[in-house]
Amino acid sequence: MTPLTPGARPPVILAIESSCDETAAAVLDGPDSLRASIVHSQVEIHRRYGGVVPELASRNHLLAIDTVVAEALQEAGVEASELEGIAVTAGPGLAGALLVGTEFAKGLGAALDVPVVGVHHLEGHLRAAALGPAEGFAPLTYPCVALLVSGGHTSLVHAERPGVQHEIGRTLDDAAGEAYDKVSKELGLGYPGGAVLDALAADGDPAAIAMPRPMMHKGGDDFSFSGLKTAVVYHLRNHGVPEGQALHDLAASFQEAACEVLVHKTLGAARRLGIRSVLVSGGVACNRRLRAMMLEKASRRGISVCVPPPALCTDNAAMIGAAAYPRLWRHVARGARFAEHGLNAAPGWRIDEPPPADVWSPAWEGDPI
Ligand code: KG4
Ligand code: ZN
Repeated sequence: MTPLTPGARPPVILAIESSCDETAAAVLDGPDSLRASIVHSQVEIHRRYGGVVPELASRNHLLAIDTVVAEALQEAGVEASELEGIAVTAGPGLAGALLVGTEFAKGLGAALDVPVVGVHHLEGHLRAAALGPAEGFAPLTYPCVALLVSGGHTSLVHAERPGVQHEIGRTLDDAAGEAYDKVSKELGLGYPGGAVLDALAADGDPAAIAMPRPMMHKGGDDFSFSGLKTAVVYHLRNHGVPEGQALHDLAASFQEAACEVLVHKTLGAARRLGIRSVLVSGGVACNRRLRAMMLEKASRRGISVCVPPPALCTDNAAMIGAAAYPRLWRHVARGARFAEHGLNAAPGWRIDEPPPADVWSPAWEGDPI
């Protein structure tokens, strides 16, 4: 492994994210120096279907990616010809959506003759915190237990050091954000539902309705959220869709159960592993109750909590750039150019697996970042 050359000028890189329904591009000129971040959300397109429609997602990534990249370069005040490396989400995610990003990155990489690296989307969520924590939270430190929680993922990751992490638990059914979105749909509150339920819950009584805490005390580090969603569905069947204060109470009761499981499992894993630092990232990490509960329960145990600012918790390309930056820096320092490698979308790539053979990711030459 060639270490980062001390004193070598940090390169200017472009990062691209298109794994789900956000087309995003960012420019970084240092490991924690973000010059621009543009996120084009397709949420309005998918809302009427109550969830992400994969075919529509890829088509709209194709329509948006040129403009989004151009806007990021413009905001950063950088010409495409000044880029020295490109990072792109290679997986996991929707195959067609990922392909738009990887093909665009390869095309631009070949045109500029600069190295392109494939990034794991969840490593991106984890490394978002390297760009700085939200106000009131601790900086990212290692080793840590990372709760990566979004509409597509709910995973607990043991991050030993930058670039070296193992998934220790995951949801066996719905992701936590998916549970929020499904409950919101049942209540007629639309998609996505996390922020709406978060706001409603703020004025509700979390103890008003008894809700299950699925797998809270079993299943190791794995999660399950479909039973919680079903409990809400049964409640609605028996009592009808609530209005007024009863709606606030239902949102608060659902949210309390979801957050308690997430916090309990995260802190339980930290205790077992003897780790004194936890990180929460992904769209659900925007949740105010989750942030507050994690902070309160962790600080009682002397554990520090890092949460990125909300704009870096939801899908974005800045986090992809942050994850790839040290690798790209090393490549640029070595004088690497674009290589005709098989960088390809890897929809099922797991965070603790080496990249599939067709994802060219030099981090896995056996060395950490
Ligand atoms: O990370 P993200 O933008 O996309 C995925 O990779 O899924 O996360 C989106 C998810 C959605 O399920 C949304 O309902 C949820 O994050 N979310 C929230 C909040 N804000 C967004 N869930 C709970 N509370 C919130 N405040
Ligand atoms: Zn995500």
